[in-house]
Amino acid sequence: MSLPQSFKAMIVSESAEKRFIREVKQKALSELPLNEVLIEVKYSSLNYKDALSATGNKGVTRNYPHTPGIDAAGVVAASSNLAFEEGDEVIVTGFDLGMNTSGGFGRYIRVPAAWVLRLPGNLSLKESMAYGTAGFTAALCALKLQVHGLTKDSGEVLVTGATGGVGSIAVGILAKAGFHVVAATGKTEEGDFLTRLGAQQVISRAEADDRSGRPILKGRWGGVVDTVGGNILATAIKSTKDDGCVACCGNAMSADLAVSVFPFILRGVSLLGVNSVETATGDRLLAWQKLAREWKLDLSGDLISECPLEELNPKIDQILQGGIRGRVVVNLSR
Ligand SMILES: NC(=O)c1ccc[n+]([C@@H]2O[C@H](COP(=O)([O-])OP(=O)(O)OC[C@H]3O[C@@H](n4cnc5c(N)ncnc54)[C@H](OP(=O)(O)O)[C@@H]3O)[C@@H](O)[C@H]2O)c1
Repeated sequence: MSLPQSFKAMIVSESAEKRFIREVKQKALSELPLNEVLIEVKYSSLNYKDALSATGNKGVTRNYPHTPGIDAAGVVAASSNLAFEEGDEVIVTGFDLGMNTSGGFGRYIRVPAAWVLRLPGNLSLKESMAYGTAGFTAALCALKLQVHGLTKDSGEVLVTGATGGVGSIAVGILAKAGFHVVAATGKTEEGDFLTRLGAQQVISRAEADDRSGRPILKGRWGGVVDTVGGNILATAIKSTKDDGCVACCGNAMSADLAVSVFPFILRGVSLLGVNSVETATGDRLLAWQKLAREWKLDLSGDLISECPLEELNPKIDQILQGGIRGRVVVNLSR
């Protein structure tokens, strides 16, 4: 494969006035870190964390100029590791991609072989990015709840931030797995979207956000996938039934959690943390296998929108305001 000297990428730079500027321009191949596997990226996707990196959040990205994109799917262009060869279709999600390593919002990435996964069977490159880190995280949450005893007989399962990337895929795959899903959303006008995904009931964000100050509430949920944190996570924990479990993966509302010990010591509720960044290979493969087969969603419908790199800018601002529905796939070939 003949390699270009430079490629198209979103480059975020910091001005002298500490403003962060996003531009799509050429980046030299020689600017990529000297890792083992060079990948020509065909698709990426937009996650909440990408928006933090693209707007100068130093907890995510320390140094600028930088190319965000925590997800990438593409074709191996060169590899110094024998595990991969030119032409292999692969995906990379998480690890340091798009944080402090040049990410998937550029036509090429160069990463350690340990970060690279062969494209799971039964998924196209585009479908893999329709899931991306958001779908992978939703699958990890569902798997963790099941390992901790959640079954179809456990009762209703709540998903918060339900129209977001992680939330919408969690609604879809839990419904596909046969659970009775209740979706909590701030976008009540998207009720039909959530019902089409498989939610049996849609409740407003306010209903999932108890302000009574009570340390424990009527037990309703057998399980919870929480993507927002803060008082909504506290409310979910207080409203979980005996021996129920709550998977906590996000902080779109708040990183704080104020809750007493009562749900844990009186009801045996389990709070399960989910981290998709450095998941062990076995769990990584299992989650992708589930997404590709048993839990595979219709990834052609209104769950997904697609855009080229040049049209990504406004969507970055939109996701930070909680305004995106479903998943945005970034087409790097266009
Ligand atoms: N642990 C991990 O490994 C991992 C992996 C991926 C993502 N995450 C985290 O998970 C969260 C969701 O990520 P995402 O990519 O799905 O983001 P997203 O697409 O922006 O979804 C977040 C959703 O949360 C809701 N929301 C937004 N602001 C809110 C607020 N102030 N109060 C209450 N709800 C609010 C909105 O849904 P509604 O309008 O439907 O309520 C929004 O669509 C983020 O915090 C992200 O950092 C963690």
